[in-house]
Formats: sequence, structure tokens, C-alpha cells
Amino acid sequence: MIKLAPSMLSADFAYLADSIKKVEDAGAQYLHIDVMDGHFVPNISFAAPVIKSIRPHSKMVFDVHLMISDPLRYIDDFAKAGADIITFHINSESDADETLAKIKSHGLKCGLAVNPDIDIELLFPYKDKIDMVLIMSVYAGFGGQSYIEDVNEKIKKAREFFGPDMDIEVDGGIYTSNKNMPIDSGANVLVSGTGVFGQPDIAKAVKEFLN
Ligand code: DX5
Ligand code: ZN
Repeated sequence: MIKLAPSMLSADFAYLADSIKKVEDAGAQYLHIDVMDGHFVPNISFAAPVIKSIRPHSKMVFDVHLMISDPLRYIDDFAKAGADIITFHINSESDADETLAKIKSHGLKCGLAVNPDIDIELLFPYKDKIDMVLIMSVYAGFGGQSYIEDVNEKIKKAREFFGPDMDIEVDGGIYTSNKNMPIDSGANVLVSGTGVFGQPDIAKAVKEFLN
């Protein structure tokens, strides 16, 4: 079954709780929460206090995507704020094993992410330590970019190696019009920001994704 993870980055933050309720009521399973530090990526979004504020308003799985240089330093904060899954980039500065262990110490699921220019093979040694593989189909940092079709091969390779039970999430430039590219390549979790929160009818977009 395909899971949809609408990316909050494209929501109107003045109406955040309302927008989140719309995607949840329409059937989205995950809420994708993009955290950027202006250092690992050239953009700044928001941090743990925002997640803490929205936590009481939603039962969705909070899928926190850390695009920050030193994820290990902030895992406790995101866990306390209400994250369910925490994913960070393999080429961040933190030790990957230590960071994964820290996430698990909170009883949470963990994932590793790769930008389009990072080899998927770098994640292979972590097969038994992670719950999710996050494959970026745009360069992390901004919403509204175009899907890079070259990543389809990487998704196929990941599915082949990690097997049918691994969550393989693809993130960036995904709309109802091109969702079959990542799905046919083997993805089972789709992130979409502009394709959901950027649409005039958010609920309709969610339903079209899940159809
Ligand atoms: C990019 C973020 C994505 C982004 C997706 O750095 O990780 O999650 O918000 O947005 P769209 O769907 O607009 O490409
Ligand atoms: Zn993301």
C-alpha cells in the first residue's frame, strides 16, 4: 500500500492546524516535517517547538526529515517534541551509528537519507539498523523543485537491496501527474509538498494521490 506524506513546508503556516487536519481527514498517513538549519542546506525552516505545538492536533505519523549538519545534537529535542520517525542525511557530520542508536533509545523509528548525488550503496551497511530509506528526488533545501528522473534507477536499486519490507520514501517534485514514476520504481512512501498543500483543494489532492 502506498503511503502519502504531505510536506508541511508548503503549508500556509498561519493556518497550520487547519491544513494538517485536512490532509489527515483525507487519509494521509504520515506528516512529512522538513527541518532545515541554513547550514547543511542553504535554507532555514523551523525546529522542535513548532512540532511540539502541532503534536496535540494530529494523530498522523510525524515523519521528521532533518536537513541539519549535526542531527545527533538535536535528537532528544525532536523526540520530546513528538516525532515518530526521524531521518537524517548520511553525509551529515554526526556519527550515523550513534545517531541511529540515539533515535532508537527514544523508541522511535529511524531512517537515512541520500541526496541525488549521494550513492545509495552508502546506506547498504545500515540495512538492519534502519526502518526507512529516504531517497531525495530533488536536492534537499527547497520545496517546489522538479523531479530528477535519474533517481528512478536509485529507487530500483534500493528496493532490490533492502527487500519488500523496507519503507522506501521518495521526496521532492512529486505530483499526482508523475507519482507513478517513483511507485513503479519501488517507492512505497511518497512525499509531496507543493502537490498537496500547494493545491487549491488539499483534500482532493490527497485522495487523488491515494487512488
Ligand atoms: C526538500 C524537502 C521536501 C520538499 C518537498 O528539501 O525535503 O520534503 O518540501 O516539496 P515539493 O513536493 O514541493 O518538492
Ligand atoms: Zn523532506
